[in-house]
Amino acid sequence: MFPHTHIELNNGVVMPSLGLGTYRMEPKQAKKAVLDALSLGYRHIDTAAFYGNERAVGEAIKESGVDRDDVFVTTKVWNDDHGYDRAREAFRRSLKMLGMDSVDLYLIHWPMPPRLETWRALESIYEEGGARAIGVSNFMPRHLDEVLEHGSIVPAVDQVEMHPFLQRNDVLERCRRNGIAVVAFSPLARGRWLDDPVIVDVASRNGVTPAQVMIGWCLNRGVGAIPKTTSRERLKENMDSLDLVLSPEDMAVLDGLERNSRTTTWDPHEML
Ligand SMILES: NC(=O)c1ccc[n+]([C@@H]2O[C@H](COP(=O)([O-])OP(=O)(O)OC[C@H]3O[C@@H](n4cnc5c(N)ncnc54)[C@H](OP(=O)(O)O)[C@@H]3O)[C@@H](O)[C@H]2O)c1
Repeated sequence: MFPHTHIELNNGVVMPSLGLGTYRMEPKQAKKAVLDALSLGYRHIDTAAFYGNERAVGEAIKESGVDRDDVFVTTKVWNDDHGYDRAREAFRRSLKMLGMDSVDLYLIHWPMPPRLETWRALESIYEEGGARAIGVSNFMPRHLDEVLEHGSIVPAVDQVEMHPFLQRNDVLERCRRNGIAVVAFSPLARGRWLDDPVIVDVASRNGVTPAQVMIGWCLNRGVGAIPKTTSRERLKENMDSLDLVLSPEDMAVLDGLERNSRTTTWDPHEML
């Protein structure tokens, strides 16, 4: 067994560390990518109401022949569905789209107000068994502290943009201290830094590709990663990052790449 394949969440649920991200996949593309991914051994799929492809993701899982119980499915409540009643309604819509009775992880997509009311809705969904775990996304330490202080359930996951060029060490530290698992979105920085000389050098010294170094950096720091690709070859390449064990020296070199380089338009630090 390789050391970074699974992460145990704070309620005992086990999440495969590597998942397939499906942002900006049209439904048809998403269906094919999820089918390909499941056939290659992926068991974690990340979608969101906002992506408009939950139905395709659900269909692909059903048609794949893989047991629903063996696939970890994450979806998220979008920004215009915040508030207790709206979030509960949005969750029902997501389940219907996915064609499922429950999801493995339900997240608040962005920390918009009224995030605490929305968090209460997620707590109620968790208590009713609609989600095996609940969490947040794009929550910075200040947002996490608020939920930790006023909520009754500690989020299982904070999904944030993270890669060697945006390390989010403040978030990682707050999460580690409170037993919250971190999942890195855009772990490839959407391809922006794959030709960086340091990434290329670590890749060639380890006999792997630049993408595998970017993903491997996340996995080697105990963080999950959900790279997106619609190419079967790249699905395989990204999956093989699970085999990469980076030395403390290589991790230190990669830790030196921080550029505070964000790919999202919104800066979550600025969300009041
Ligand atoms: N919670 C949030 O607010 C949030 C925000 C953004 C993303 N996400 C989630 O995180 C997932 C991943 O993030 P992302 O889609 O923004 O970016 P990403 O995974 O960092 O990068 C995806 C880009 O890299 C390319 N790529 C993938 N594998 C590659 C490889 N092995 N070699 C070279 N290029 C490769 C893809 O192209 P091809 O498809 O052409 O291969 C695509 O252009 C999303 O799909 C979504 O599920 C969440």
